[in-house]
Amino acid sequence: MSTDRTERLFEEGADRATYVQTMFSEISSRYDLMNRVMTVGQDQGWRRRAARAVVRPGDTVVDAGTGTGDLAFACIDAGAAQVIGLDFARPMLMRARTKALRGEFGLTGFALGDATHLPLPDASVDVWCSAFVVRNIPDLDAALREAARVLRPGGRLVVLEIPKMEAGPLRPFARVHFNQVVPRLGRLISGHRSAYAYLPVSVDHFLTPREFTARLRDAGFEVTLVRRMMFGTVAMHVAQKPAATTV
Ligand SMILES: C[S@@+](CC[C@H](N)C(=O)[O-])C[C@H]1O[C@@H](n2cnc3c(N)ncnc32)[C@H](O)[C@@H]1O
Repeated sequence: MSTDRTERLFEEGADRATYVQTMFSEISSRYDLMNRVMTVGQDQGWRRRAARAVVRPGDTVVDAGTGTGDLAFACIDAGAAQVIGLDFARPMLMRARTKALRGEFGLTGFALGDATHLPLPDASVDVWCSAFVVRNIPDLDAALREAARVLRPGGRLVVLEIPKMEAGPLRPFARVHFNQVVPRLGRLISGHRSAYAYLPVSVDHFLTPREFTARLRDAGFEVTLVRRMMFGTVAMHVAQKPAATTV
């Protein structure tokens, strides 16, 4: 897919969700390998850090856009009693299920589900988490509304994402990494023509960490931590649903 066609996915009325669902379904077999290579082996450490930031022993957790399940597994390792991994790309979920069968992951369950229409009751989970997903959701506010709905009062949220880079001396290097290195590596490893060309375009259309903090606050969350990692190319936001009021 050319850059122009990728750009068009971000125009009003474009069906970006279907593109994302199809694309992840097509790259599922190489997705984990590509993650390890692209992040020089750092990505699992970020997921562990995210899980430890919010999970308390005995928690019920929903992992929205769980993909191949790595954040869900990190939440079990961090002490969660039960993790529900939801994703709208079935082949990604099949990978997660296979990994769950191979490991000691307690009560992890994986099911088809859309982050903008969670198949869960109100105030039913202690933690809502998501890694490298929200940038791909056209209606971000709907996803945040759903997170607020399913979290119990006082519940916690953590989001890992590749933010739009803030101005600074490292931005040119990050641009070369995402615009030149990642698409080439991605094509080589995944064999998919457009998936990793979509990635830098989606980052450009996303929010800086400050802007995402504002969106979380607009959705009613109290933002408790914003951490920039890997020279600012990855951001972790931790937030809480207020204990007494409804969001
Ligand atoms: C970059 S992968 C991240 C997977 C996983 N969270 C991880 O840490 O590796 C993005 C995943 O989000 C899923 N996704 C994107 N939009 C979604 C939505 N609206 N509802 C459910 N899943 C979604 C995709 O199918 C894909 O599996």
